[in-house]
Amino acid sequence: MMKKTILDFWKMSRQQEKITMVTAYDYSSAGLVEKAGADMILVGDSLGMVVLGYESTVPVSMEEMLHHAKAARRGAHDTFVVVDLPFMSYATIEDAMHNAARLVKEGGADAVKMEGGEEIREMAAALVKAGIPIVGHIGLTPQTITKLGGFKVQGKDYDSARRIFHDARALEEAGVFMLVLEAIPAKLAGKITEAIDIPTIGIGASNECSGQVLVYHDLLGLYDKFVPKFVKQYDTLGIKAVEALKRYCADVRTGVFPAEEHSYKIDEEIMNRIDK
Ligand code: KIV
Ligand code: NA
Repeated sequence: MMKKTILDFWKMSRQQEKITMVTAYDYSSAGLVEKAGADMILVGDSLGMVVLGYESTVPVSMEEMLHHAKAARRGAHDTFVVVDLPFMSYATIEDAMHNAARLVKEGGADAVKMEGGEEIREMAAALVKAGIPIVGHIGLTPQTITKLGGFKVQGKDYDSARRIFHDARALEEAGVFMLVLEAIPAKLAGKITEAIDIPTIGIGASNECSGQVLVYHDLLGLYDKFVPKFVKQYDTLGIKAVEALKRYCADVRTGVFPAEEHSYKIDEEIMNRIDK
């Protein structure tokens, strides 16, 4: 399948055809996501939690993002890949420019995602002007989880809902080509999607968005330390993996594995001579 472009995503959202996005952080998972036919891959900084075992996305570094972006890119040549700028890698416009360029040039990103609304308008506009396609991310923004007071739904009261709505407008004006809405009420997501021309990608933001994203490990049931309300587990691969690993250990212990079909043969005559 041909790699989709930003124009394809705009067209899909205009025609109300849902956009599918899944995270992937390495060669093999990106390959599976591409095989499944997802429209986009996100190398999210959620990798800090589900792959590296951090408590939040805050500790994730540029080097870690690049390491995983490169691997995911190698596994999915025909899929549009978005890579997250990690926390504090875009504290200034200069940093943002430098680090976003690295994600594109070294990491193979087709676009770069950053969290924030009005406060990053100028920065997003500068990156877009420099030629880097930008995806916005508002609502629950995990990089500022301490400020938000924990992983919880955003935009339920008037002030917060109004701010998120205006953040969406500000980002569209800045030139971002797509917007992730995380953990906000369904009706707010619907109103934003209606009010702006760029596609919205929801996670915990209802089906009133132009598309959806889920974390690979969440949707396959590979990470159960914390399962948000908005996650649907399409399988429990973590449980299946533990069962398979247990069977392997048991087979080794009882000598059942490796069997003859897993072993190599040598001529009897050679064997008879090697210790002579
Ligand atoms: O890092 C990530 O996986 C994300 C998605 C949850 C949108 O930002
Ligand atoms: Na992220």
